[in-house]
Amino acid sequence: MSQTAIRASGLYKRFRTGKTYIEVLKRIEFDCNHGEVTMVMGPSGSGKSTLIAALSGLLRPDEGRVEALGDSLWNMPAGKIDKFRLDNCGFIFQGFNLFPALTALQQVQIVLKYQGLDAAAARKRASGALEEVGLGPRMHQRPDSLSGGEKQRVAIARAIAKNPRLLFADEPTSALDTENGVVVTRLLRRAATEHGAAVICVTHDPRLEAFADRVIHIEDGRITDDVRRTPAMAAQ
Ligand SMILES: Nc1ncnc2c1ncn2[C@@H]1O[C@H](COP(=O)(O)OP(=O)(O)O)[C@@H](O)[C@H]1O
Ligand SMILES: [Mg+2]
Repeated sequence: MSQTAIRASGLYKRFRTGKTYIEVLKRIEFDCNHGEVTMVMGPSGSGKSTLIAALSGLLRPDEGRVEALGDSLWNMPAGKIDKFRLDNCGFIFQGFNLFPALTALQQVQIVLKYQGLDAAAARKRASGALEEVGLGPRMHQRPDSLSGGEKQRVAIARAIAKNPRLLFADEPTSALDTENGVVVTRLLRRAATEHGAAVICVTHDPRLEAFADRVIHIEDGRITDDVRRTPAMAAQ
């Protein structure tokens, strides 16, 4: 039986724009399980990134609760929320967010050092993660000599190296061609199937549905559809 990783209820968030407010999350109920890829789809501006930010401790909702790994996320003091993210969450974004001056190996190592691993252990774990995403031969290259697909694989290695219980991906394939998009999505699938992470992947790319255990549609701050499915391409 799958184990619940996150359960959120009544999530409400609005932003001030001039004199009025725009409601972005309109009391959302959400849950996701370990070992599963939960896809959140919806048009641009529907609230997907805001939802991920509220679920992962990046942006405090105005109302509602998030139970993450059994803890009430937004009831923790700020420092504990940061520690929770560091210990438990991996993030993959559309724009890769790599440091230009660091090699692939250093990008991954630096996160592990923050977590308290010593240099030798960080190096070993980082090179293992880069091997896992197929970048072993490129680990000493910097971002400017890597393709878009390779850069995103570095970002994935960085996210999975600490073996996070929660893996958040926000439009991870939208800067990639189809082939690289599939490679990246397979790696997310594998993080769920082989490592038991709860993968929450936001996208508006319908081709990614094939990899999901569950597809949630969001429109204008509300969940409009929530469908369980069998992933066509199991852990490969
Ligand atoms: N910090 C902010 N201040 C004001 N409006 C924002 C802010 N962040 C997001 N929004 C607005 O909230 C809506 C939803 O944004 P977002 O969650 O980024 O949507 P999506 O990721 O689905 O494209 C958009 O209309 C966006 O302009
Ligand atoms: Mg977004």
